Amino acid sequence: MKRKGILLAGGTGSRLWPITLGTSKQLLPIYDKPMVYYPLSVLMLAGIREIAIITTPDDQPQFQRLLGDGGQWGVSFTWVIQERPEGLAQAYLLTRDFLDGAPSAMVLGDNIFFGHGLPEVLTRADAQASGGTVFGYHVADPERYGVAAFDADGRVTMIVEKPKVPPSSFAITGLYFLDGRAPDLAAKVRPSERGELEIVDLLEAYRAEGSLQVERMGRGFAWLDTGTPGSLLDAGNFVRTLQDRQGMQVGSPDEIAFRQGWIDRDGLAARTRVFGKSSYGTQLASVLRE
Ligand code: TTP
Repeated sequence: MKRKGILLAGGTGSRLWPITLGTSKQLLPIYDKPMVYYPLSVLMLAGIREIAIITTPDDQPQFQRLLGDGGQWGVSFTWVIQERPEGLAQAYLLTRDFLDGAPSAMVLGDNIFFGHGLPEVLTRADAQASGGTVFGYHVADPERYGVAAFDADGRVTMIVEKPKVPPSSFAITGLYFLDGRAPDLAAKVRPSERGELEIVDLLEAYRAEGSLQVERMGRGFAWLDTGTPGSLLDAGNFVRTLQDRQGMQVGSPDEIAFRQGWIDRDGLAARTRVFGKSSYGTQLASVLRE
């Protein structure tokens, strides 16, 4: 069965209040694009064309205005509401019908991935028909994240959420490739003390049966999260620096759709006209000229 995508873009964004009192965090700009373009690009790079987008009830119309039905990129969006932010693992309960037994790749709407070889990493994860694959990334402050512990052979022995004493420096990033059993396994997860269905508990179910791979993303990758005022600004500056230097776009669904062959040259030209003289439009025009 072909893998389907889940883009989880609900949440409260309370660390960004008051900015996120009026809008969704995932609609805020990361330099020249809305945040949600970046995780969406990751799913598209993984070759995924059927994508469920989960938002809060209030924010759904704004996301729909921005993203449409996906047809402009040769993908299709299914819109799903999460009434309350009751945890990342809840996404699998909300998308049970959409998934219909298919394996999935879920990405958090505020996670940005960049690195040489990312498409290959994604293709490898997609090729795993059963079990789960998640990605470990070396960070300076693992206690803020879900952290993986490894045995001497590099096999994962435990994943713990926000540990006071981190068992390693490898945080689990917000990108999860799980097999078709994820909704059933998520249904067995009980709410944590903070009242959320925790993704680490779902991953633990896979780990306990020996079917969880933790792929380490090396130092050639950037994994940025954007949940605080400082990290939001840093992510924007990172994208700006790369794009200005290389003259290439980071996280453009239009460019990826074109390179994947999901839209043709005329389709890209039409999109380029939509964006006119904006920097996004100018950069699409340069892709067209290549
Ligand atoms: P978090 O950053 O953990 O939470 P948040 O976005 O609500 O922000 P804050 O902690 O500042 O209040 O969420 C990570 C991502 O997952 C983010 O893109 C929002 C999304 N999310 C949901 O869609 N539903 C949820 O129930 C939770 C907990 C998060």
